[in-house]
Amino acid sequence: MTPASREEASTLDDKDPLARYKAQFDLPEGVIYLDGNSLGPPPKTTLARIQSTGEVEWRGGLIKSWNDAGWIDLPKTCGAKIARLIGAREDEVIVADSVSVNIFKLAAALCAQAPGAIAYHTDEFPTDGYILQGLSNLTGAPLMRLAMDAGHDAINSDINVLVKSVVHYKTAAVADIAAWEQAAAQNQAAIIWDLSHAAGIIDIDMHAAGARYGVGCGYKFLNGGPGAPAFIYAERHAAATLNQPLSGWMGHAAPFDFAPDYAPAPAVERFACGTPPILSLSALDAALDMFADIDIAALEAKAKMLGDLFLARCSALGLESISPAPSQRRGGHVSVRFEHGYEVVQALIAHEVIGDFRQPDLMRFGFSPLFLGYRDVWDAASMLANILETEEWRTAKYSARSKVT
Ligand SMILES: Cc1ncc(COP(=O)(O)O)c(C=O)c1O
Repeated sequence: MTPASREEASTLDDKDPLARYKAQFDLPEGVIYLDGNSLGPPPKTTLARIQSTGEVEWRGGLIKSWNDAGWIDLPKTCGAKIARLIGAREDEVIVADSVSVNIFKLAAALCAQAPGAIAYHTDEFPTDGYILQGLSNLTGAPLMRLAMDAGHDAINSDINVLVKSVVHYKTAAVADIAAWEQAAAQNQAAIIWDLSHAAGIIDIDMHAAGARYGVGCGYKFLNGGPGAPAFIYAERHAAATLNQPLSGWMGHAAPFDFAPDYAPAPAVERFACGTPPILSLSALDAALDMFADIDIAALEAKAKMLGDLFLARCSALGLESISPAPSQRRGGHVSVRFEHGYEVVQALIAHEVIGDFRQPDLMRFGFSPLFLGYRDVWDAASMLANILETEEWRTAKYSARSKVT
């Protein structure tokens, strides 16, 4: 039941089994952070790990730490922890590079296997389309742009590869992975799932849904830190058939043989390329430990309730939501329209309620259930109501645009 008052919200917090995780984060006092879907905040253990990786492993262990501290295995260690969150096997995920680069590697490998178009929805997160445009220029594979609302019946035999988000970055609509995979299978197409807004917040079972390929970032709900490296999932048997074009030494079967010719590592490890960023990987590794005993279905359910609460308050303010209604499945964020959304978000930030803005008029708010409670969301909505009512957002300083919105 969506709480109808601040008291009811507090009562829900008192009964919430996930509430205990909040103390594990190092959030500034008084901040209500509704941007964990963009950059997760630091878990305390992650900050400690960053310190010890620098001081103990790097300063103390020097180059020995590649072996002694397990640095060389971190891409796989982190991958195994992420695998559990997305319904993959432990040896089917590695952490490397960025989402953009990982899309390139997977899509290029799939393009080399079969002819046909590479496709994406026009409203997809822009980098996904940009990478496919670059790949199309490079390989000559035709590019196909699907309409925003095209369903899985848009997959036809002209398509070889489709890149598609599991959770849409603006609306938080959740794709029916199994239905898309079924349509893809009927047309011998492959889907690369962008799990950036899905991993660590909604219950996903890639295997059960028949999904073979995926990518996602480490810095959103996984709380791996700014610019945390991304992950890549490739089903074991499918991965072993793929030749990815960035055939760097870290994807070699035996990097320290220094052999003159490239020989790919088994399965998903071949998608590694160069030397892994150990400081960032250590941070991500520590952040992932928090998920070890968490039931992702419970996370999804709480995120949904927090989002429902916020949307109910927004609706009372006359704000139009572009996100799925309470009766539908939704990711961990919501977006509402307001012509001066940028200014309103800046005013909220000035009052320590942090969300973000997406062009052209969307105020986007994320509901990470690990550090947000129902009362936090109630209070954030009250602040939003106050800023709209008083028109505080009209204050001149709020319209100055920063580079990052
Ligand atoms: C859905 C989605 N895909 C890709 C990216 C970008 O990933 P990267 O910067 O790691 O290439 C983002 C970033 O916010 C995203 O939301």
